[in-house]
Amino acid sequence: MALSSVGPAANYPPGIVGVHALPADHHEGPWESILTPPGLKERLLGTSLLILRHGRALGQLNGAPHGLVLLSGPPGTGKTTLCQGLAQKVALALAPRGATTFVEIDPHAFPSDMLGEGPRAVLRLFSDTLPELAARRPHTIVLVDEIEALAVRRSTASFETNPVDVHRATDALLSGLDLLRRTCPQVLVLGTTNFAAAVDEAFLDRADLVLRLGLPDRDTIAEILRQTLAESAAVFPGLAGLADDGDLVADLAERLDGLDGRRVRKLVLSAMGSRPELALDPGRVGADDLRAAADAERASA
Ligand SMILES: Nc1ncnc2c1ncn2[C@@H]1O[C@H](COP(=O)(O)OP(=O)(O)O)[C@@H](O)[C@H]1O
Ligand SMILES: [Mg+2]
Repeated sequence: MALSSVGPAANYPPGIVGVHALPADHHEGPWESILTPPGLKERLLGTSLLILRHGRALGQLNGAPHGLVLLSGPPGTGKTTLCQGLAQKVALALAPRGATTFVEIDPHAFPSDMLGEGPRAVLRLFSDTLPELAARRPHTIVLVDEIEALAVRRSTASFETNPVDVHRATDALLSGLDLLRRTCPQVLVLGTTNFAAAVDEAFLDRADLVLRLGLPDRDTIAEILRQTLAESAAVFPGLAGLADDGDLVADLAERLDGLDGRRVRKLVLSAMGSRPELALDPGRVGADDLRAAADAERASA
């Protein structure tokens, strides 16, 4: 497909679900919104900047980087959001040297027929589309979300349940990555996976950095709740005060212990939707509604 058609409202080649020019004001927010253990963001930002800024020079060294960074962890732990935030953060840091293209790839958006069209599309993406996109701006970041769908571990994929196509897709991704690294050593590929055990070993080996995001601990849950309650109170002033009620927040955090960040983030929304009266007037949500919503979340987990 001709890349001249890749623009804001264009039909992207298969697999690509978004192409953004960064930095852009409306991409502010995600990086700060995800709470991570100390040092994790610094490491992530450091490795990314190193590849984007010095990938070409480092390519001449033994043990040159592959330009691949992986985030792994259970669903709802902020992996996708953090990658989106990282793209903007990196773009801001590199802005004096020019803009950054952020390409989002969804493995589920590739053709999945049995005739080899999927693997062909994967290879074409890495051999043609991404190099063409990378030639447009000085910096390029490619996010391959839920990469386990493409890089299925070949050693455990059964030929009965997984057609040969699965193996071909993994081979195509690996060949594609190697090709991209040779032609564009300064491109950063970010991958997320909900299930690192299902990702092909050869792919994990290529990662320059693998970071694990876990379920939030109690303190993190409490902080997410405080943030969400404060944001909600800015929209519905009746909720003012809830975020500052330390006992309530601690009690809710205890009830939500073990749930992922996405479900914690949704608690207030879930309380607002728990009864028609609250839905019509969300400012009336009180401590008991939040406790009941937390118990309901728990019960359905
Ligand atoms: N550690 C966290 N800190 C703050 N919010 C979080 C955290 N983990 C998840 N969330 C919330 O859950 C939402 C969904 O996360 P997402 O990036 O889609 O997770 P994943 O890609 O790991 O499934 C985020 O936008 C955020 O609101
Ligand atoms: Mg995700």
